[in-house]
Amino acid sequence: MNLDEKKLEQLLGLVVNELGAASNAALVVLGDRLGLFRALAERPMTAAELADRTGTHERYVREWLSAQAASGFVSYEATDDTFSMTPEQSAVFADEDSPVAMVGGFSLLPAVYHDEPRLADAFRTGKGLRWSDHCNCMSCGVDRFFRPGYRAHLIAEWLPALGGVVEKLERGAKVADVGCGHGYSTRLMAEAFPNSEFIGIDYDDASIGCATAEISGVRNLRYEVARAQDFAGSGFDLVTMFDALHDMGDPVGAARHIRGALKHDGTLMLVEPTAGDSLADNLNPVGRVYYAGSTHICLPTSLSQDVGLGLGAQAGEKRIAQVLRQGGFSQIAKAAGSPFNMILEAGPCRPRTTRGAAARSQSGRMLRTQGENCRDRHHLPPPSRPRLAGRRPVPLVLEAAGCARPPQMARILDAHGGGVTEADLRRGLGYCGAAPVHPGDGRNHPYDRLAAAAKSAHFAAVG
Ligand SMILES: C[S@@+](CC[C@H](N)C(=O)[O-])C[C@H]1O[C@@H](n2cnc3c(N)ncnc32)[C@H](O)[C@@H]1O
Repeated sequence: MNLDEKKLEQLLGLVVNELGAASNAALVVLGDRLGLFRALAERPMTAAELADRTGTHERYVREWLSAQAASGFVSYEATDDTFSMTPEQSAVFADEDSPVAMVGGFSLLPAVYHDEPRLADAFRTGKGLRWSDHCNCMSCGVDRFFRPGYRAHLIAEWLPALGGVVEKLERGAKVADVGCGHGYSTRLMAEAFPNSEFIGIDYDDASIGCATAEISGVRNLRYEVARAQDFAGSGFDLVTMFDALHDMGDPVGAARHIRGALKHDGTLMLVEPTAGDSLADNLNPVGRVYYAGSTHICLPTSLSQDVGLGLGAQAGEKRIAQVLRQGGFSQIAKAAGSPFNMILEAGPCRPRTTRGAAARSQSGRMLRTQGENCRDRHHLPPPSRPRLAGRRPVPLVLEAAGCARPPQMARILDAHGGGVTEADLRRGLGYCGAAPVHPGDGRNHPYDRLAAAAKSAHFAAVG
């Protein structure tokens, strides 16, 4: 066998690093459990001081600190034999409230190591492993892994990226969070929008037990054990699913049921793992975390249920959109994203209205864009932005004959008017090619530029 020395060296270097990482992961869990990271984040300490501060044994703590220093997770000062944490190390390992807290991701690893023999059996039989089959409170680790992202983005970015949803939540809306797990996302929303009613739904009764235990005085929130494909209730303004659709055995059935449970102008907000549409797109560190987690957890969960579609955690936007379309959603667009999540917005397609048809015939040529054959007009509330003195905010709804997504609309409008960016458009854009905009000051305001570009592109302007 001819081995290329250089390639072999590179591979071995990688593998040594991996062995260290895999073995140290258990020590990160231990350090989190014993409060070692949190105590060290307070000030620089010797091993003896940290042991004293945390009620642990000095010799063990010294070895643990050495492993963390070699991993780059804590810092070491040889001159006075002290250990410390930089603000960045603290943000990742010691501060549960930080937007970049990552210890939660480590805390689900004991379960996947412990469950490896059962997974090996599943590989042989093709059968699945239910969510509740995993040990060591795997769901607690999943919950902790996702919390920082939800805390950082859900209320501030993701909900405002959906057309008209925040306004409905502020007025009072009915919301279901399906596959809610320990219910953190549901609770965040319930606390932020006290006029709305929230129900968190999950088929795992242990998770719902944990969620319910944390309700503590949030009155507009309850949880229920039920399946996504047949939970009770209807007339929802908003249904959310956080990192759950791809875990389901029958995601098409779930989408179809949710479609039926939504109001005619309701919205499905789907949070799914960030992924490209092909394996080649996902060969990167985030894809690696998700493919591994998917093999351990997501895929076996799906294969343990009826239908057993087995989407996997890196299904990608196209495949997820296909599932939603099969479930009866026709208006699907990517609304936002973060390093770990992509946020899709989907709405039921409604029949064409007479007003829409009239507007089309008056406007002459209609622009056809690629996408689903959804011809309906989606009137959205005006975007929140400062009102212009002396001008009545009359929404202008732009309409395309197909389902144009923000990037497509931006490209089309930019080509016709120049200077209209996707960001301009997102400020006022709902799905299915409808952009409600306000008149600006008539000069170089983005909304005026948008309206001028739309006119030139022969979009139908309604309202
Ligand atoms: C990755 S966890 C996400 C949990 C939670 N949404 C979060 O983000 O922390 C996926 C969740 O989907 C739930 N689930 C899987 N299949 C389900 C089904 N058919 N109906 C309802 N919930 C399901 C699991 O019990 C689990 O809580």
